Amino acid sequence: MSILVTGGLGYIGSHTCVELLKNNHDVIIVDNLSNSERQTVDIIQELGGKSITFYEIDVADRQALRTVFKCHDISAVIHFAGLKSVNESIDKPLTYYNNNLGSTLALCEIMNEFDVKNLIFSSSATVYGHPQTLPITEEFPLSTINPYGSTKLIIEGILKDLYHADNSWSIVILRYFNPIGAHESGKLGEKPNGIPNNLLPYVSQVAVGKLGKLHVFGHDYDTEDGTAIRDYIHVVDLANGHLKALEKSSQSPDLRIYNLGTGKGYSVLEIVRNFEKASGQSVPYVLDGRRDGDVPVCYADPSKAKRELGWSADRDIHQMCVDAWRWMQYDAKREKSTP
Ligand code: NAD
Ligand code: WQD
Repeated sequence: MSILVTGGLGYIGSHTCVELLKNNHDVIIVDNLSNSERQTVDIIQELGGKSITFYEIDVADRQALRTVFKCHDISAVIHFAGLKSVNESIDKPLTYYNNNLGSTLALCEIMNEFDVKNLIFSSSATVYGHPQTLPITEEFPLSTINPYGSTKLIIEGILKDLYHADNSWSIVILRYFNPIGAHESGKLGEKPNGIPNNLLPYVSQVAVGKLGKLHVFGHDYDTEDGTAIRDYIHVVDLANGHLKALEKSSQSPDLRIYNLGTGKGYSVLEIVRNFEKASGQSVPYVLDGRRDGDVPVCYADPSKAKRELGWSADRDIHQMCVDAWRWMQYDAKREKSTP
């Protein structure tokens, strides 16, 4: 199949493109490079063993998108493109609404125009807000507490309305839990701009010596060690979830929603210990106050994805940390050697 991947040079998109190529799909990437690098094209091709077509365009640019659809016989679209920083979305809500909603509306319109109605969308566990019970199933009530989360919830609503208006669409909404880790080659991984907000990139940068110490946000939660718990999932497992979703959505039209998580939660301090073990480096930390908006505990019930897609996560927390560390070292070396 020819798959159009928006945001395909980003963290999750690039890993998904590698898996698509390994499964012999043709891949067309559109990305505006707002949070990625052009050189990732070469790495995807190397790791996937096949060439891809890349267009540097903004997904909100209808005319440019139309040209892409004219040039390729696209069967399905995986839509990763979007801005994803919770903090930045609080400071710049209009930028987030504009980019995330604008690109999705343009994409759906052009897909409609070209009668391509098979879409996989990157949503997030953030749409569950503060869950009342655990584990989180797809039927839980939805709410959000920041503009980033609101863009995901609004887009989910748009896609549901689209399907109800025209049920020849096949739409899969994937709600990711906390993606971490990197490709096992160490050549592809997450590269945040500036000081990372997310735990794993921060821990990695402490371990490699770029940052002094980790601030653990909250140590008085009602958990075993007092720190918050999340469902961390290896990015390659997540990528493979998209291939399973694609198989399913290509069988018959429907609107489907799946959690992609492992079902297992780890505390911040458990992550620190696992990362120290995987890297052989110490990760100094200080216990700090809670971060605004954080939920104490969040982990998925991933059984619907297992039942309906035949997908479950294979890689454990040790593997996630080992791979993240390999990538961190590779990237640090690459940065040093770049003038
Ligand atoms: P990322 O920032 O690494 O990748 C997103 C890519 O989209 C980047 O390459 C960026 O340049 C591109 N992009 C952004 N806006 C664009 C536009 N208008 N036109 C063209 N390209 C555009 O992010 P990621 O971590 O790979 O996340 C991918 C998707 O998954 C996002 O939609 C994100 O909200 C969602 N998601 C991510 C996480 C996470 O923790 N990483 C969790 C849940 C959901
Ligand atoms: C995990 C835990 C922090 C950094 C975010 C988004 C969510 C989704 C995934 C996109 C929390 C603690 C963190 C640090 C710390 N993204 N922490 N010190 O908040 O679960 O989810 O990324 O959709 O929408 O909100 O992930 O990695 O930021 O935090 O103690 O320096 O680590 O307080 O308990 P989070 P995270």
